[in-house]
This record gives sequence, C-alpha cells and structure tokens, in this order.
Amino acid sequence: MNYRLPTLDDYEILKDYVIEHYSNQEKSISASLGLTNMKYKDWVEKVNRNSEKADDEWGKYYLYLVFDENRLVGLLNIRFDLPDKLKELYGNIGYGVRPSERRKGYATKMLKYALQVCKEKQMKEAILGCYEYNYGSNKTIIKNGGVLYKTISAEKKISDEWTIVLKDNFYKIKL
Ligand SMILES: CC(C)(COP(=O)(O)OP(=O)(O)OC[C@H]1O[C@@H](n2cnc3c(N)ncnc32)[C@H](O)[C@@H]1OP(=O)(O)O)[C@@H](O)C(=O)NCCC(=O)NCCS
Repeated sequence: MNYRLPTLDDYEILKDYVIEHYSNQEKSISASLGLTNMKYKDWVEKVNRNSEKADDEWGKYYLYLVFDENRLVGLLNIRFDLPDKLKELYGNIGYGVRPSERRKGYATKMLKYALQVCKEKQMKEAILGCYEYNYGSNKTIIKNGGVLYKTISAEKKISDEWTIVLKDNFYKIKL
C-alpha cells in the first residue's frame, strides 16, 4: 500500500471516490477535512501546507491518499500535532475506506500505519473516537490495541423535532 499527500492531478480520482460514497447514500467523506466544501485547488494547498505548518484549528497533520496498486482505497488523517483541548474531541487519527473496498482489511492496515507515524513523531499514545454503532471502526481500533477509556453521549439534532443520542467511544492506544 502506498500513502501520499494529494496533488492537483488527483482531481479525477478523488471525484470518483466522492461519487462512489454519494451513490451509496453516504453524505460525508470521512477524513477528508472539507474536500467537498471548498475549491479543489484550495483544499490541496491547505492539506499540503498543514503537513508542515500548524493551523490554529488542527495543528499540523497529514492527510494521505491511500492506494493499493493504483486504486485509491481510502483517506487517512493523522493529527500528530493536535491542540490538547481537541484531543478528546476529535482524536488523533481519522480514516475512511471507499464503500466497494470495505471489509477487506484496509482500515486495519491504515490504522497500523498511522500509529507508526505517531510513534515516529515521539507521541506516547494516540486517542481515537468513534460512535458506538460504528462496529467496523470500533473493531479496527481494538484490533490495533485500542482500550476503551471513556464513553460520552452527544445529542444530534436531525430535524426541528427530533434529536438522537449518540454514544461516542474513546480509545487510547499506547505507542
Ligand atoms: C469503518 C471503516 C473505516 C472500516 O473499514 P474496513 O476497511 O472495512 O475495515 P477492516 O476491513 O479493516 O475491518 C476491521 C474489522 O471490522 C470488521 N468490520 C468492518 N466493517 C464492519 C461492519 N460494517 N460491521 C461489523 N464488522 C465490521 C471486519 O470484519 C474486521 O474484523 P475481522 O478482522 O474480525 O473480520 C469503513 O467501514 C468506513 O470507511 N466507514 C465510513 C467512515 C467511518 O466510519 N470512518 C471511521 C470514523 S470513526
């Protein structure tokens, strides 16, 4: 597998990646950090800039396109410089795998890779959060040594009348 930052030339493959999510009734693209909300050129610039220079929101981070052979299989966000107050809100690592490539072991390998990067950055532990109902992500974290240390409930409004209570699981992985 191959991990690298995005370039302007990746526009078509990312478009295809996004369309596949939408075709599968998924409205958000995990770990994409605003890919679908901004001009592609601006997004590429932001992601590349923030790999070297901290911004106020996320600190420094890597947002890698993950390839197997030449196919984009997922996105991996490694937030190795996250401000303390955000560590327990967002966690250090985020990932998503395209719908057609799920349950083939990609997320497990991507998280393993991300943990190696965190270790190289001299981090002592990584914090990851994921909703309780997200069995695939919970299992991916546990398979990589994650230990549940906290569950918080968050209310999410889905219309003027309805709210749903989501349980957010937080794991720590010692590096
Ligand atoms: C969650 C997600 C990243 C998992 O990716 P994946 O590549 O399918 O994960 P893996 O193939 O490495 O699977 C890891 C484990 O979880 C299990 N798993 C994966 N998806 C599952 C699901 N929907 N239900 C139950 N178990 C699941 C796998 O079987 C595997 O366990 P096993 O080794 O015992 O068989 C993927 O479903 C996804 O991109 N979802 C949308 C974005 C998202 O939720 N990102 C994480 C936010 S916290």
